[in-house]
Amino acid sequence: MNLADFLLSGYGSASTSPAPINRMMAAFTEDFRQDTDINLGVGYVNERTIPRELILEAMRAVLSHPAKYKLALNYGGSRGSQNLIDSIKNFHIENAIGGLTQEIIAKNEIIIGPNGATSLLEGIAHVLQPGIVITSDPMYYIYCDFLQRQGFDVLAVPEDENGIRTGLLRDKISGLGSRKNEIAFFYVVTINNPTSTILSNERRAELVQIVTELSHTECRKIPLIFDIAYENLVHDPAVPPLESGLLYDEQGLVYEIGTLSKILAPALRIGYMIGPNSPFLNAMIQKTSDVGFSAPLITQEIASYLLDHHVQRQIERVNHGYREKAREVKKCIDEQLGAVVSACSGGKAGFYYYLTLDGIQTTEGSAFFKYLSRTTGDVAVDGPATNKNPRVNYVPGQFCCHPQGDLVERGKRQLRVSYGFEELGRIRDAIGFMGDAVNYARR
Ligand SMILES: Cc1ncc(COP(=O)(O)O)c(C=O)c1O
Repeated sequence: MNLADFLLSGYGSASTSPAPINRMMAAFTEDFRQDTDINLGVGYVNERTIPRELILEAMRAVLSHPAKYKLALNYGGSRGSQNLIDSIKNFHIENAIGGLTQEIIAKNEIIIGPNGATSLLEGIAHVLQPGIVITSDPMYYIYCDFLQRQGFDVLAVPEDENGIRTGLLRDKISGLGSRKNEIAFFYVVTINNPTSTILSNERRAELVQIVTELSHTECRKIPLIFDIAYENLVHDPAVPPLESGLLYDEQGLVYEIGTLSKILAPALRIGYMIGPNSPFLNAMIQKTSDVGFSAPLITQEIASYLLDHHVQRQIERVNHGYREKAREVKKCIDEQLGAVVSACSGGKAGFYYYLTLDGIQTTEGSAFFKYLSRTTGDVAVDGPATNKNPRVNYVPGQFCCHPQGDLVERGKRQLRVSYGFEELGRIRDAIGFMGDAVNYARR
């Protein structure tokens, strides 16, 4: 007798096959040739920014000082290591990150996630009632894809060079009519992924105002989550100091999600949330407990040590490297692709450029994509089956623009290019291949 399959939850059913972007990335990485293929698609940090020696020093210090770093190899708690929480507080205050003062930090709580910022974002989608999530377009595709599988509707509002367009946001909210009461939360990445657009201070303040007004008309608090993953990677000195949304919040609506992945090491898996004490925050702590406590205590204590002793110099080093690469990669884009690039954002913070091409499709089935993945079927382009020519990976805009949003057509001519992981010489080669791919697509 044939049995019906396991009964899966809605989330389980939606997750039985990989998200389109994961499928595409998996296909690329399956037979990735380290010295031949070039990966401009991953959001990996540059290996040389990871402070291996300092991590060794930190681990030794942590294990040698059990009086300060108690039980570092045992289970942790669900709120996070107090050492790390204190270090994050000091880090924010001493470096005036987001303009946060001792007074504002004292009014808020910090919790550490189980597995990076990603796990806190996931937790939010578990503890808040499903509904509409409002975000900017192009959107952080990894989280937005998850939100949709988790039963949320994503409403993406186009951004301009200052971030989410607040005028348009007001129009879209009023366009929801009676569905306004379904708004679950706002999720805004302050230095957006994929575009690296920096959300201006004016927009931050306006967003808080919009969500405050909406909370009043809906007679309930609506959360505004700022994802500040790249906030410490502003490498263009012309960018004015960025202000935290917490500065403008009088109603207890704003929470910030930060990560140490980009400035220390992704493998430490340290993500944190800052915001006011509330039932929501308590639910997030319980959620962390339910999935096996906050990040491994040893990595929390290592991160605490690094923040206390080395963070300033480390951030300078990381940003110096990305600044250099941003400049060189832009030069290369201008030289090799200049004529075909109709818009380009990024280069001031983080490590992505987001390009719009003029008349050239970048989608998975496009000639441009096939050329770079060496799947044209033409041996002269692809190289022999057993020894393909170098392949180049990027994130097609089609995965970043909301499929029902305003940017869907434009997204088919866009791509995210990461200058994080690969070294400059290889990035230059890859952009050269992109120039060839443009010519191939136009033939
Ligand atoms: C916008 C954004 N949020 C969160 C994360 C995840 O950070 P973590 O490594 O702490 O999970 C990333 C990683 O690339 C990101 O781009």
